[in-house]
Amino acid sequence: MASLPSKRIGLLTSGGDCAGLNAVIRAVVYRAAKYGWQVLGIREGTQGLLTRPPEYQVLKPEDVDGHVMRMGGTILGTTNKGNPFAFPMADGTLKDRSAEIAGAVKELGLEAIIGIGGDGSLAILRQLAEVGGFKLVGIPKTIDNDLGMTEMSVGFDTAVAVATEALDRLQPTAASHERVMVLEVMGRDAGHIALNAGIAGGADVILLPEIPFSIDKVAAKINEIRAQGRNFSLVVVSEAVKDQAGGARQVEFADGQKRYGGIGHYVGELIAKATGAETRVTVVGHVQRGCPPSAEDRVLASAFGVHAVDLIAEGKFDRMVAWQNRKVVDVPIEDAIAGYQAVDLDGTLVKTARALGICLGD
Ligand code: F6P
Repeated sequence: MASLPSKRIGLLTSGGDCAGLNAVIRAVVYRAAKYGWQVLGIREGTQGLLTRPPEYQVLKPEDVDGHVMRMGGTILGTTNKGNPFAFPMADGTLKDRSAEIAGAVKELGLEAIIGIGGDGSLAILRQLAEVGGFKLVGIPKTIDNDLGMTEMSVGFDTAVAVATEALDRLQPTAASHERVMVLEVMGRDAGHIALNAGIAGGADVILLPEIPFSIDKVAAKINEIRAQGRNFSLVVVSEAVKDQAGGARQVEFADGQKRYGGIGHYVGELIAKATGAETRVTVVGHVQRGCPPSAEDRVLASAFGVHAVDLIAEGKFDRMVAWQNRKVVDVPIEDAIAGYQAVDLDGTLVKTARALGICLGD
């Protein structure tokens, strides 16, 4: 008769997807198998713990072998809607459903949960663990790379690579047509993707949410480049950059949800008016998330997954795995959430960009 697993742990992905989530899942499953533990992959983030019976799949090493690490998205599904503390009900009211989550964790006999998420998801999971009395370990993922206490979160490197590749592809067409190409990239309120991709992709102008921009400065840079004999430019705009009136450019979807969107076209129009240059705008959007993870994201995801399982083995909870000084460490989840990381205006990359002559709009 097959022996029963000595422990059962839950694993869920929460918030927006990104490249590398499946590599984390694989690492957790492999490592847990070494301890002889069973891993229940919860479907659709906390959503799977709100349905009855709870929705999950038993994950075995053979389920995550081979191509899974190379796949974008998350094989478990995820959600960035439906906070269990204020869950939108069909009648339009908000209901606290946190007790149902705690009930499902108990029903499934989970010793602990590993939650893969960004700051919002980890904050909710932490609160759920507190009120529900279950144990939690967090793994940071966000293309925005804005979580505190970790130099890197899963998904960021791939998003930067995709945005950089977009610039590589825009440069020849910009040069051929003597155009200004504006590229709008994601990053929510932090400009890390824009700054990294802008430097890597040879941008002439990089606009970040952390630095209010002046169109006169941007136009002056484009005109300076022309005066030097180059009749095209590359401009990277982070989605949360404010317009000249200080407002955020947003789009509202049919279900009422709002997201950043539109600043690239706004900046493109301003540039066209101010310089007379033929201008085109490209929005990279979700292409930054749904693709095979870069090698670096796979390595990070693997190290994070292994360390998260080891933390459970050591009985260390309410911790988030993190990357610091070339190694994996763990920190209190609370500190990671509290230590939001915007672009450091005195940091190496801002200095590097300025030293390269890149206009940051100020
Ligand atoms: O936080 C990740 C992120 O991709 C942001 O960069 C972006 O603003 C947002 O999510 C988009 O959200 P959604 O996938 O819900 O459109």
